Parts: sequence; C-alpha cells; structure tokens
Amino acid sequence: MKFFIDTANLEQIKEAQALGILDGVTTNPSLMAKEGITGEVNIINHYKAICELVDGDVSAEVIATDFDGMVKEGEALAALNPQIVVKLPMIKDGVKACKYFSSKGIKTNVTLVFSAGQALLAAKAGATYVSPFIGRLDDISTDGMNLIEEIRLIYDNYGFETEILAASVRHTMHIINCAKLGADVMTGPLSAIEGLLKHPLTDSGLAKFLADYQKGN
Ligand code: E4P
Repeated sequence: MKFFIDTANLEQIKEAQALGILDGVTTNPSLMAKEGITGEVNIINHYKAICELVDGDVSAEVIATDFDGMVKEGEALAALNPQIVVKLPMIKDGVKACKYFSSKGIKTNVTLVFSAGQALLAAKAGATYVSPFIGRLDDISTDGMNLIEEIRLIYDNYGFETEILAASVRHTMHIINCAKLGADVMTGPLSAIEGLLKHPLTDSGLAKFLADYQKGN
C-alpha cells in the first residue's frame, strides 16, 4: 500500500519524508490556499519545491473545467517534473482529458469521485489513480468504506490497472480499513499517518524496559 501525504505544507511533507515511508503527495486548490500559495507563478514554484522534497508522485490539480483548458494546464504541469500527476475533476471534460493524457503516457489522478460508476469511467479513461473521497462521504452519513469495497470488486473483475487512491482520509482507522479492503494508495494528513505509530502498550512496555535496564546498571 502506498502512503501519500495530503498537504501543501512543506514542513509536514519533509517530516513524512524523513519517516521513510512516504510514496507521494496530493494537493488541491484548497490545500494550496491554506498555505497562502496563490497566483499561477507561486503555485507552479510550490509544485517544483514539493517535487524536490519527495521521490514519488505529486498530484497537481487543474483549475480549468473545459477540455481545452484542462489539456493546456495539464500539459504545462506535467512538463514541470516527471513526478507530476495531472489531477482532473470527475466531470465530462475531465474524463475526456483523462483519456487524452493517458493515451500520451501522462499520469492522471481523477478526483472528486463519490460513486462506483464514476470510478468505472475513470478506469475506462485510463486514469493512473482514482480518488474516492471517503471522509466527505462519512461527513454526509454515507459509509466511505463501502465505496472502496465496490471499486476494488469492479476493478478486480476486469483487471483495471487504475490504482485506488483512498482520499479524504481523516484518521488512522480510515487507513487501516482501506488497507483491509485493498486500496492501493491512501492519502491523508500527517496526523493520521503518525497515529499508526501509537499504542499505549508500546509506551508502557518501553518505559519498563528502560527502567529495568537502569536497575541493572
Ligand atoms: C484528495 O486528493 C484531496 O486532496 C483530499 O483528500 C480531500 O480531503 P478533505 O475531504 O479532507 O478535504
């Protein structure tokens, strides 16, 4: 299972990278704005900075919502660095753009996916990644995990190579459940990733080992 961090915060990206378990980064316009990164030039420079910090794939989202605009923006983003994955919204022109990029060998991430039908279309269009937003489904009292399960079944039925990138992960249990259901990738905040580290028996066990060592020395 690949671990992506879902942030545009360079410090958090560095911290996750230093842990040695990071496989990539996802961003979106809201995450960029949260870090105060605005304007085309700053955004482009920020993507470049992120690519320098990590080895893996970095999703960069297009702003255009029409086919020609998405192609123009996506090609410019992809030219920045081979690590860039063009992130496209799950709308009609997004599907067309996905097909365009996949036929040119440019990596894509189809985002804002909330149903199995949308995920099926993304796979048909040759998406590298499909991003079902599990946390946002949970937010409206719909079990996000069911969607991961459905997509896994459909993709396995037909051998689709599109990777299921569980997005909108909010906490540690989301990661565990995604792993159980066979999501290929998860993207979440640093807090959810670091949450995997924690267990009170680890802490108390380590404290006892250290105390016992001190007694003998
Ligand atoms: C996915 O790529 C999105 O950036 C992200 O996971 C959305 O998460 P949110 O629902 O917590 O905003």
